[in-house]
Amino acid sequence: MGLFWGDEGKAKAIDVLGEDASIVARYQGGANAGHTVHLGDEKYIFHQIPSGLLRENVSGVLGAGMVLDLPELVSEIYSLKKRGIDATSRILISPRAHLVTPLHKRIESIYEKLLGIGTTLRGIGPTYADKYTRLGIRLGELIYQKDINNKAQQLINTHRPIFEAAGETPPTSDEILGPLLETLPIISELVGDVSLFLTEAIHSGKSVLIEGAQGSMLDIDWGTYPFVTSSSTAFSGIASGLGIDPRLVSEVIGLVKAFTTRVGNGPLPTELFGEEVERLRGSGEHDWDEFGSTTGRPRRCGWLDGSVLATNCQRWGVDKLFVTKMDVLDGIENIKICNAYKKDGKVLCAYPSTAAMLDEIEPVYEELSGWSGRVSEASKFDELPENAKYYIKRIEQLAGCPVGWVSTGPHRKDTIIR
Ligand code: GDP
Ligand code: IMO
Ligand code: MG
Repeated sequence: MGLFWGDEGKAKAIDVLGEDASIVARYQGGANAGHTVHLGDEKYIFHQIPSGLLRENVSGVLGAGMVLDLPELVSEIYSLKKRGIDATSRILISPRAHLVTPLHKRIESIYEKLLGIGTTLRGIGPTYADKYTRLGIRLGELIYQKDINNKAQQLINTHRPIFEAAGETPPTSDEILGPLLETLPIISELVGDVSLFLTEAIHSGKSVLIEGAQGSMLDIDWGTYPFVTSSSTAFSGIASGLGIDPRLVSEVIGLVKAFTTRVGNGPLPTELFGEEVERLRGSGEHDWDEFGSTTGRPRRCGWLDGSVLATNCQRWGVDKLFVTKMDVLDGIENIKICNAYKKDGKVLCAYPSTAAMLDEIEPVYEELSGWSGRVSEASKFDELPENAKYYIKRIEQLAGCPVGWVSTGPHRKDTIIR
């Protein structure tokens, strides 16, 4: 799982760790995720399909805690197929997953004008909201088709005032259901009990990787509310999202980018501006520069936030860290790490619970010397430049847990295993 605001390099880690896995499972989120894997000269961006599917022997699970955009899912399946990857024989989708409809995407556009969260406009928030008001449509209900027209009508009736207040006409029930029903010839073949499937797989000794989407700071309860996504992105989402005993999870791996990024609005205490941010973001000339994988928006960037790191490692019981993008820090003379937050001159013990409080804190920085060599030339930890090793060790001290992997480039081979 990501320990920051998303885009920590989860897909790269899943691709590396997938070598030993039989199954990769997504437990939350939906097409708001953009998970990039570089394989040879090819680049794959996964949105709803688990990133591990580039490994031929890996099956993918889409859990009950996800909100699915079925037409987008089908086009993701087709575009993988065109590139020689058959996902349909290897995917299992929970019938309990809720469905994003065209109505939800339109509602989100209206809400965005009021709230300014800077969402991905994939209909995620309104779909989760309807799940909790019990108005939502689950995949199993779409397949069963009993009462489905009434459910669509109920969605229209309850949201009509929102459309009218915005001077818009709500979609018709055909506009809501039509695009979803069209996907059923493909999707209904892929549905099954993910809880049973995963529990049996784990008990029979298979290795299951669970792929978080977004990051711990975008968690609906523990993130920088209201500038968050609408799901339980961290460890707590696993049991409900997949229907498994969380005690079966043997290791929690936290993803840490060597610097901090966020896309969309909301607090980013270590944010940089001007030339400094451009150095971290990149100009866009590289595939991995900091521009959103889903929306193409430039990501906001700043120094590594050790306060977020320490909080999330402790809160979620992180066992090991996978650090990515160390190569981006190559050649920076002085690197900063935020090691605490101060308010009114005092160091805070607990992570601030409101966005307003975060506006009032002051990050405390320590300055570290950078390195002149390239981290990508090292294949072992010991071969890294001394100051890069120190940077990793400092991450371990702040996090209180070891770094198991250091990623020095976007490809599988650019990974140091400790
Ligand atoms: P995710 O959403 O957490 O899977 O991350 P994204 O795919 O949105 O963004 C991470 C980007 O960084 C992708 O383009 C990755 O290929 C790239 N990436 C991952 N690890 C490294 C690394 O160590 N170095 C470089 N240069 N790029 C990396
Ligand atoms: P991956 O899995 C980075 C952000 C959006 C917005 C907020 C709410 O690739 O790390 P939403 O559409 O979810 O309601 O948007 O969350 N956001 C992400 N930021 N990476 C993601 O996914 C994100 N998914 C959502 O930019 O600020
Ligand atoms: Mg991403």
